[in-house]
Amino acid sequence: MKLSLIAAMDENKLIGSAEGGLPWQGIEQDRDHFRSYVEGKALLLGRKTFEEMKGWFDTDHRPYILTRDRNYVPEISAKVAFSFDEVIIQAEKERENELVVCGGAAIYERAIDSADLIILTILHSTFIVQSEPKFFPKWDPKKFIEISRREFAPSENNDFGMSIVHLQS
Ligand SMILES: NC(=O)c1ccc[n+]([C@@H]2O[C@H](COP(=O)([O-])OP(=O)(O)OC[C@H]3O[C@@H](n4cnc5c(N)ncnc54)[C@H](OP(=O)(O)O)[C@@H]3O)[C@@H](O)[C@H]2O)c1
Repeated sequence: MKLSLIAAMDENKLIGSAEGGLPWQGIEQDRDHFRSYVEGKALLLGRKTFEEMKGWFDTDHRPYILTRDRNYVPEISAKVAFSFDEVIIQAEKERENELVVCGGAAIYERAIDSADLIILTILHSTFIVQSEPKFFPKWDPKKFIEISRREFAPSENNDFGMSIVHLQS
């Protein structure tokens, strides 16, 4: 099973904060890219990110939630696991071809060393958050090689421009 990580970050690798939510207003081009990549796939989310996104899933998504709370009951149909290894076993048992890690920071951190592919939207700006900032983890530049990069100039819905980069191990 292929393991992919997909994230959007600023130039400092900022992805979110302890209080939750993205540090920026939704960017249409990035949202479209995310939607199109995850369509029809198994998705791994930390419990906090899952709760932020739970209204967003449709029947085509197969979310797996990571939590340490043994009593956790998701409000929508989703599989629950209590360790990263358990998620991998569950998804392989379901014969998933790919598991897409959708964050947050804690889950990217746990998954990055096992990733086959990292898909990053890099917003060409820097942001400040009110509570503890959450960052995308460092990756080994010897292990992950850039295989594609698309540039998006600033536009009406995106003041600063962005790159979408694929890194493969
Ligand atoms: N920019 C992006 O692409 C992007 C993507 C996703 C999220 N985000 C942002 O990231 C922030 C949230 O990140 P976060 O790190 O605070 O939260 P998170 O990763 O979404 O969720 C953390 C929770 O996951 C569970 N967990 C984490 N590691 C675990 C492990 N090894 N085993 C079992 N359960 C585990 C725990 O749940 P319990 O507390 O239930 O035990 C933990 O509290 C938000 O601001 C969100 O908007 C940004």
